[in-house]
Amino acid sequence: MIMEYSKALQKIPPYPFVEISRKKTALKKKGVDIIDLGIGDPDLPTPKGIVDAMKAAVEEEKYHRYPADQGSIEFREAWAGWCKNRFGIQLDPETQVQTVMGSKEGLCNLIRAFVNPGDKVLVPDPGYPGYKNGGTILTGGIPVEMPLLEENGYLPELEKVDAKGAKLMFLNYPNNPTGAVADKSFYKEAVDFAIDNDIVLCSDNAYSEIYFGGYKPFSVFEVEGAYDCAIEIHSFSKTYNMTGWRLGAAYGNEKIVAGLSKVKSNIDSGCFEAVQKAGIYGLENYDEAPALEEYEKRMDTIISAFKEAGFDVKKPKATFYVWARVPEGETSESFVTKVMERTGVVITPGTAFGKYGEGYFRVSITSSTERIKEAAERIKKLG
Ligand code: MLT
Repeated sequence: MIMEYSKALQKIPPYPFVEISRKKTALKKKGVDIIDLGIGDPDLPTPKGIVDAMKAAVEEEKYHRYPADQGSIEFREAWAGWCKNRFGIQLDPETQVQTVMGSKEGLCNLIRAFVNPGDKVLVPDPGYPGYKNGGTILTGGIPVEMPLLEENGYLPELEKVDAKGAKLMFLNYPNNPTGAVADKSFYKEAVDFAIDNDIVLCSDNAYSEIYFGGYKPFSVFEVEGAYDCAIEIHSFSKTYNMTGWRLGAAYGNEKIVAGLSKVKSNIDSGCFEAVQKAGIYGLENYDEAPALEEYEKRMDTIISAFKEAGFDVKKPKATFYVWARVPEGETSESFVTKVMERTGVVITPGTAFGKYGEGYFRVSITSSTERIKEAAERIKKLG
């Protein structure tokens, strides 16, 4: 049998973090002491209160059956309540909130609701790989990169973006991978752009709870006009160290939410309700990300240790990530491979996030301060 993969699947590369993980496993097998500053997957555990809420919920037989597709009304109300407290925004839990199995699933399925084969999707580059590959290309859409350049503070120049044929646009601030933030005036410009061009705006806000030095990220719905064109996707993964639990929420414009709900109800059967109960506990019991203080310490450590090792790094206002230029004479891939093979330190090449990531690497705060210092020391010795 030939078993030919679909044209769309053939067009996309393997998921970058799967590739990195494969290389990491191979080095581990050889006995290399790995320090993982690669994927944004917190090494810290999910808070005990959330784990206990899950344990109690698992015992309840009513949660053993199919969950409600849109998410339990209890979860959606808790989500709307959290958004009101945190961002001061109003959401109707009946019509404006949908649970998702993490941001990745939500944003990839959102594309299916709006994009026909040949339609364009505006994706930031560098940007989260799901926008382009698992989302747009697998749906038959055409990704159009919006370059995020250092000289523009890693914001796309909307006036230069060709909106013709575009159905959807992704924005992600606080930004993965650059750590950049945007202000509300930029989002107002983006909302106007989306409305003028009949483009659905998806704000990926997965990092809104990981912030430093007094900065506090906002929701797109704090900007006038956003309810007319936008959906926001949020995740429990980073805020509560819950990457493995696969829980998040998509919320905003009713028609956009309904489109996502329709796609999802035809593909999956919702998030396990015990996981939603655990999520509710998190929403109702923490005023901020439980590990925020530790993350700020780690961020400060990365900045001083990598400066000491000779890199020009700046502390971001938010996210898990430091984005820096590779040394002269190296490409993203050559540098990252050299670092990994010679020092056992895993970092991510800028090109994992698109062609405009060439010349950069990303470091994440997903190891202890001691290990971060050691990683920088090992890289420094590399010369
Ligand atoms: C990242 O490290 O950029 C992401 O969190 C990885 C992922 O979600 O797959």
